[in-house]
Amino acid sequence: MVSFDTPVLSTPASDIVLEVENLYTHFKTDDGEVAAVDGISFNVRRGRTLALVGESGSGKSVTSHSILRLIQPPGRISGGRILLRSARMGDIDIAGLNERSPMLYKVRGGLVSMIFQEPMTALSPVHTVGDQICEAILLHQPVKKAAARDIAIDMLGKVGIPDPAHRFQQYPHELSGGMRQRVVIAMALVCRPELLIADEPTTALDVTVQAQVLGLIRSLQREIGCSVLLITHDFGVVAQMADDVAVMHRGRLVEQGTVRAVLKNPQHAYTKALLDALPSRHALRR
Ligand SMILES: Nc1ncnc2c1ncn2[C@@H]1O[C@H](COP(=O)(O)OP(=O)(O)O)[C@@H](O)[C@H]1O
Ligand SMILES: [Mg+2]
Repeated sequence: MVSFDTPVLSTPASDIVLEVENLYTHFKTDDGEVAAVDGISFNVRRGRTLALVGESGSGKSVTSHSILRLIQPPGRISGGRILLRSARMGDIDIAGLNERSPMLYKVRGGLVSMIFQEPMTALSPVHTVGDQICEAILLHQPVKKAAARDIAIDMLGKVGIPDPAHRFQQYPHELSGGMRQRVVIAMALVCRPELLIADEPTTALDVTVQAQVLGLIRSLQREIGCSVLLITHDFGVVAQMADDVAVMHRGRLVEQGTVRAVLKNPQHAYTKALLDALPSRHALRR
């Protein structure tokens, strides 16, 4: 497919929101080229959650950054196709977009948004949480400042932040880690993306807060109707959150399928090893 900066308007007939086909992302190092992502293909279904699971260093974050075109030199996408089948904008060939294409800015944070592992990487320490959420709104929605403020406060309430009008005026350091991640989720979802990429969204949080934040992502996903690409190293999270799963190992996908099928009958030795590493494997059966 050729790259295009204007969307091809079409009503997507399929139930797929993201098609990744034969994606390669390489990093140039002193020891030669490292294939962090080494020819992977997967689909995210509309309204569903796909978990990308694998141990640390398997290439999960590089995959998610590739989808948003966030790979910086010495890294580059060296092959493959990333097709966003947007219900609002038609099919968008993300890998083929020019770096300065206006469409890329519509994709980032508008059609596709991302939650990172560590909330402070997404938040500025010198701006109030309210200003940061409003900025995200004003960037992608044709509303005035006062309306953006109302939308932001409403969203803070939706992500379970008590007294949102007060919290709106606070700085990130005044909030707990769990509350900060809720702010990040508010920022990611306030523009109603079609696809949310959550890269280990709860790894940096206390265990008790983890389950709450995962539950929040799940309920907001249902409300907004977006799809989720959930990145995790934890099959427990996969079982709790995902419909489909793709298992990543050394830059490749070794197995994929519905969560039910993969948990019931894992095919690949690496998948079995990940499952065996869990404290209570029987608890995952569903
Ligand atoms: N900036 C970089 N320079 C060189 N190699 C990198 C860089 N970022 C990532 N890599 C390579 O990509 C591999 C996968 O990284 P990553 O996607 O972050 O793993 P994870 O699955 O833990 O998210 C790393 O093991 C490393 O070899
Ligand atoms: Mg990672």
